[in-house]
Amino acid sequence: MLSFRRALVAAAFFITVIFLTTRSSSPPPSEAPESFPRAQAYSDSFKKAATTAAADHNPLHGGPSRHRPSQSGQQAMQDMSKLSLNDKLAYQFPYDVEARFPAYIWQTWKWTPAQSQFDFREQEATWTEQHPGFVHEVITDDVAVHLLRLLYASVPEVLEAYLALPLPVLKADFFRYLILLARGGIYSDIDTYAIRSALDWIPETVPREQIGLVIGIEADPDRPDWKDWYSRRIQFCQWTIQSKPGHPVLREIVARITDATLRRKRAGSLRAVNDKGVIEFTGPALWTDIIFEYFNDDRYFDMSKSPGPIDYQNFTGMDVAKRVGDVVVLPITSFSPGVKQMGAKEYDDPMAFVKHDFEGTWKPESERHIGQTY
Ligand SMILES: *[C@@H]1O[C@H](CO)[C@@H](O)[C@H](O)[C@H]1NC(C)=O
Repeated sequence: MLSFRRALVAAAFFITVIFLTTRSSSPPPSEAPESFPRAQAYSDSFKKAATTAAADHNPLHGGPSRHRPSQSGQQAMQDMSKLSLNDKLAYQFPYDVEARFPAYIWQTWKWTPAQSQFDFREQEATWTEQHPGFVHEVITDDVAVHLLRLLYASVPEVLEAYLALPLPVLKADFFRYLILLARGGIYSDIDTYAIRSALDWIPETVPREQIGLVIGIEADPDRPDWKDWYSRRIQFCQWTIQSKPGHPVLREIVARITDATLRRKRAGSLRAVNDKGVIEFTGPALWTDIIFEYFNDDRYFDMSKSPGPIDYQNFTGMDVAKRVGDVVVLPITSFSPGVKQMGAKEYDDPMAFVKHDFEGTWKPESERHIGQTY
């Protein structure tokens, strides 16, 4: 007889099949929302690499069409237990580069806007004002756990890792990758103001159906002693990220954090991850490394047609958006305007999209953004 548990699993598969079939039979989203007001032209310097990469932007298993959920839903028959974590995630959260960017805004904080202790009303309101029609959620710790239990029920090791993380800041970092991998949309720290609508973030000339991830630059310290201040020569920020669900960069970072966390849990060394270790463990250093690995990964890009490897040199000093394959990298002004250094322009610059206060975070200021005051 079918046990209750097996019945549940069967039911889950059944729903997945319906979901996949329904999704794949709906008309492809041919056009991005109609009126994208003019953003600045994006640099040509990546054109060659970008065109190549976009044309050859294949997922692990075949041509771009395989980015789409399978027509038959046959994947549902796979034995999940034999897959690697990365493959399980790919199966659970398929990446469809041609889908629209989901109209979600995700934020996390200790309180919700409905509670009197909530102290980011002004910031939070800017996101709603700039994004009419978007679903905007401010998620507390408790709610985050419930949500992740639902989203990651079939990948329990991810949930185990989330619950095992010893610091709220690690959980907050992990949560943003998890929610974007599963649902897509925009994640932004609670202490950020939206200056311009996300509909304006990607340059008008870039087709939305070829882009799955939009990131900004946190730091571009062009000085010999940069190592005293930053962990990477170019550091991508993770206080604001836009993505479509299932993006391979998100999959990789979730798999990486899960593996590292569970390894340390088993070894009993998880408690040793202190505030200083956050940047490398879940924060912008890991985020930056994984993005660069992706840019140079021949599973995703045809490196033979690329003018060369991609590293910090390709992003330093840039003041317009650049595209690499299905990723748009915004200049430092976009997510870090007004920092009065590293070439960042002011809040009223047309490329300034969000304003980040570096205040209302769970992280000690000094650790979270080492060198922010340099
Ligand atoms: C990145 O920059 C380096 C150094 O300027 C260059 O050699 C390389 O070709 C660039 N890569 C791409 C893909 O444009």
